Amino acid sequence: MGGYIPEEILESIRLRADIVQVISGYVNLQKRGRNYVGTCPFHQETDPSFTVTPEKQIFYCFGCHNGGNVFKFIMLQHQVSFPEAVKILGEKVGVAVPEGYSPKVKERLRRGEKVWRINALARDYFHAVLMEHPAAAAAREYLAGRGLTPEIIKRFGLGFAPGDWDALIKFMQNKGVGVRDLVEVGLAVQGERKAYDRFRSRLMFPIADIQGKVVGFGGRVLGDGTPKYLNTPETEFFSKGKVLYGLDRARQHIREAGYAIITEGYMDAITAHQFGITNTVASLGTSLTREHGRLLVNYAREIIIAYDADAAGVAATIRGLDILQELGCRIRVLSLPEGKDPDEFLRKRGVEAWRRQVETAVSLVEFKLQVALEKYKNVSTSKEAVLEEVLPSLAAMNGELEKNEAIKLVASRLYTSYHAVAEQLRRFSNNQPKIGINSDKIAKNKHNIIRKNRINFGERAEYGLLKLMLEDTSVIDSVTGALPGNFFRDSFCNKVYEIMLNIYKHPSYASSVLFDYLEEEHQQKLGMLLMEPVPGEDVEGMMAGYINAIKRRQLLEYRDKLIAALAEAEKSGNREEMVRILHEIKIAEKP
Ligand code: UTP
Ligand code: MN
Repeated sequence: MGGYIPEEILESIRLRADIVQVISGYVNLQKRGRNYVGTCPFHQETDPSFTVTPEKQIFYCFGCHNGGNVFKFIMLQHQVSFPEAVKILGEKVGVAVPEGYSPKVKERLRRGEKVWRINALARDYFHAVLMEHPAAAAAREYLAGRGLTPEIIKRFGLGFAPGDWDALIKFMQNKGVGVRDLVEVGLAVQGERKAYDRFRSRLMFPIADIQGKVVGFGGRVLGDGTPKYLNTPETEFFSKGKVLYGLDRARQHIREAGYAIITEGYMDAITAHQFGITNTVASLGTSLTREHGRLLVNYAREIIIAYDADAAGVAATIRGLDILQELGCRIRVLSLPEGKDPDEFLRKRGVEAWRRQVETAVSLVEFKLQVALEKYKNVSTSKEAVLEEVLPSLAAMNGELEKNEAIKLVASRLYTSYHAVAEQLRRFSNNQPKIGINSDKIAKNKHNIIRKNRINFGERAEYGLLKLMLEDTSVIDSVTGALPGNFFRDSFCNKVYEIMLNIYKHPSYASSVLFDYLEEEHQQKLGMLLMEPVPGEDVEGMMAGYINAIKRRQLLEYRDKLIAALAEAEKSGNREEMVRILHEIKIAEKP
């Protein structure tokens, strides 16, 4: 499906089209716990069965069983084909789809490409100046003084903008790029009489989107001038709230490491990469947005926030974290000693000390607790107030084990009992908007596929294993290591696994992508399976159990085959063959 739309374009639309936002344009959605619910647009109903999960970027209706990703929703809603749905969504989120589309989209595509092309030219120009030009000697010294190697300078394409008023304008004119375009891209400023270069005498940090296209720049003064950083102005092509600096380089490493580290600044991210901590990105001094979260959750759900500990940093940190949690992230906060940012910390204390900080980074609840305790000082008189601040985070936690641990922690910090905190939490949760009918529907459906639906343990193991792989790609690696080939018997599991194996290594893979490759009937099943809760807490243990069940089944089948062959050999009186088979049966029967 949709094979002729470049994967790159599908990806950028998928990344920009938040399913909750898109569906809200058509359905009145209410937040219910971790999901959003509304009345289904695809069948008649009064009780809302239609569920959207921001965390998985899918929708599913417990009434009519329609389900899928954001593309599928548009297909159903507008009664259109996949490519048409892509186009409609592309228009909504401002990503152009090539060929035969509306003039508006074509125009945006043209302008988008112009922006990227000009920015790439500028990056190369600034970089060449930094590496070679006499006027950049001080800049080279500055960077060397801050410990950046030529290798890392090259890797991040750092550059230097000369001090002249029109160095870049002149360079671009020679390349056939006019002043008006430079102004539009934010590289030049229109003065009263003449345009001039926006960035002068500044170290240049090219900012790329997730696909590596240069969308803007940050320019740092050498030394202490103000503003410290001058950035590309916010346009439809560049917005700090929508990019994470370094993500194009970090995304694969984030997936491999299983977690991302978010720092605040350019230098923090670059230094981390230089020290081999390549799963690091920077939020460019802004508080974290839903878009940031959506960019990250494709790669890992565990996120470590490493901001420096000044008051502004802490306030900004707390603001963004709830948004990340809503997307299903597990957040830990790494607080560095006052006044130190990750860049300084790494250079002064080294990687080992950094790793210890990462290991001891505290959970969001603990962090909020620390901040609240700091704020209220006297615990004994302000238990209620402190509790007030952490209850929302406690309530938002989904793992029972994790939640219990957190309750214990809060209780001990407030010198009160587990029971007292749990009771407050219960009250708090009861006062929240009622979970209502919808969660009953999820609960009723709960064991549909993995537990109830099927008869034998082998098949249950297949669904269970598939569910775990849908939740976490690292499980896929373990499974391929333990069981060769496509071992699934169930046709749905077999198909999903086949597709998964083909695409899960791709940096933009998410389980919601699978819908694009499946038949209707299998899409429904996938929707249901994705909505089910994971059947337990101990993922490793469950995985081992399922894998063993499947191995055991394979072994039993192999033994049956051998027994049939034995009968065959006996019939034809082939004694030698019989001995050989008996020997194999013995091996196969060993546990
Ligand atoms: P910092 O002031 O912490 O800068 O701002 P830094 O990254 O540590 O830089 P160095 O180490 O002093 O060279 C954090 C981030 O906030 C944004 C930048 O993205 C910066 O990396 N910022 C800061 C601005 O955009 N403008 C400013 O004037 C200051
Ligand atoms: Mn710094």
